[in-house]
Amino acid sequence: MSIKYKFPVDFWWGSASSAPQGEGAARKDGKGLNVWDFWYQEEPQRFFNCVGPQNTCDFYHRYKEDIQLMKKIGHNSFRFSISWSRLIPGGVGRVNEKAVEFYSNVIDELLANGIEPFVNLYHFDMPIEMQNIGGFENREVVEAYSDYAKVTFELFGQKVKKWFTFNEPIVPVEGGYLYDFHYPNVSDFKRAVQVAYNTNIATARAIEKFRTLNLNDAKIGVILNLTPSYPRSNSDEDLKAANIADLLFNRSFLDPATKGEYPEELVRFIKENNLTPVVQEGDKELLKNNTIDLVGVNYYQPRRVKAKENLSKDDSKLMPESFFDNYEMPGRKMNIYRGWEIYEKGIYDIMINLRDNYENIESYISENGMGVEDEERFIKDGFIDDSYRIDFIKDHLIWLHKAIEEGANVKGYHLWTFIDNWSWTNAYKNRYGFVQLNLNTNKRTIKKSGHWMKEVTENNGF
Ligand code: BG6
Repeated sequence: MSIKYKFPVDFWWGSASSAPQGEGAARKDGKGLNVWDFWYQEEPQRFFNCVGPQNTCDFYHRYKEDIQLMKKIGHNSFRFSISWSRLIPGGVGRVNEKAVEFYSNVIDELLANGIEPFVNLYHFDMPIEMQNIGGFENREVVEAYSDYAKVTFELFGQKVKKWFTFNEPIVPVEGGYLYDFHYPNVSDFKRAVQVAYNTNIATARAIEKFRTLNLNDAKIGVILNLTPSYPRSNSDEDLKAANIADLLFNRSFLDPATKGEYPEELVRFIKENNLTPVVQEGDKELLKNNTIDLVGVNYYQPRRVKAKENLSKDDSKLMPESFFDNYEMPGRKMNIYRGWEIYEKGIYDIMINLRDNYENIESYISENGMGVEDEERFIKDGFIDDSYRIDFIKDHLIWLHKAIEEGANVKGYHLWTFIDNWSWTNAYKNRYGFVQLNLNTNKRTIKKSGHWMKEVTENNGF
């Protein structure tokens, strides 16, 4: 078979997951409650089919079987997250030995099977006790988070060489403080800015602690959903609108993490709109001195933006959308199940931006994927024929390959996700995995895309 798209040697092939979406055992072995456990308890009707996070895929008990499947489909790397509320119930104080045992076992099992563990410390899952004192609006919680991070580095730092402070830190800001799709369901732009700012401080504090531990060749980064903002047209108004969206949703995290400072334009924008967060003495230096080594890029869809069409509209409540309108491009290609546009070239544009404007920082695609409803209808010869997912991955990899050929410093590609999992308020509506999860029996069956991925990793391309 001839290989048209060959990837660099040692390319990271694998997938990503998260503790709240995969572990299950939400109330087992001393785990504390996080915001998801709590919110589900309060408002189960907000979750698709009223399904909550208690059991999910039961990775907590089935990690050995799952790691064998990862090996079978050719993974050489796998990202999972540590649950703060499992490791340190309540968020501060005593470390839960059962959790230490579980995460040590997972790490050892991955390594024994030739799969490098990539560890993320926070995937939208604030311990409820920490949320009750204000979550990331409160600097005490920032400190508690960095103490928790240090505990994980001390416990697992000899074996884990890729660390991430947060997955998509903008999402809890959007979901929890602007658009009401995460607990605590607040909608307040100023508070959202404070949470975003403090999350950047939390990353910097964690990195500061990481650097004191001399973990040799270990690297630390953050995972960002860098959603390119494409203007409807090249008019000044559309360009300006797209730039504001880019500053708010991408550069608000990318610049502090990589350059140790906020874009001046963003600082001005925040000031002009009376959104300036409370800062502490020394924050500037903290950010400047504690930047990341590598960035994980999650890419699902582009953002298309146009200038606000109705300027006279009463914008008494300030929101990001007070400054731009979202734009539906005619003829766009859609993932109709998730309602997200598919635009493969976006992955290339992100990488070229990192190459040209961010010193070509080391990166990898930490998530990309396609959520599809009712996949069981595609079962043929005993497994799901998800050829549409294979096409989706291929089309993105072709653009990624082009970026690499043009000098982008991209080291890998992880699919979201390994096995169909619980997707927040969408619960099991859309399925994303290389592996099918039977919701009644928990049986795992590799999909066509999983078998295909095995060949891709063997050939290091396709
Ligand atoms: C990413 C998250 O935003 O997208 C995952 O890191 C999430 O946690 C994935 O599951 C897919 O999005 P959704 O909303 O369909 O689950």
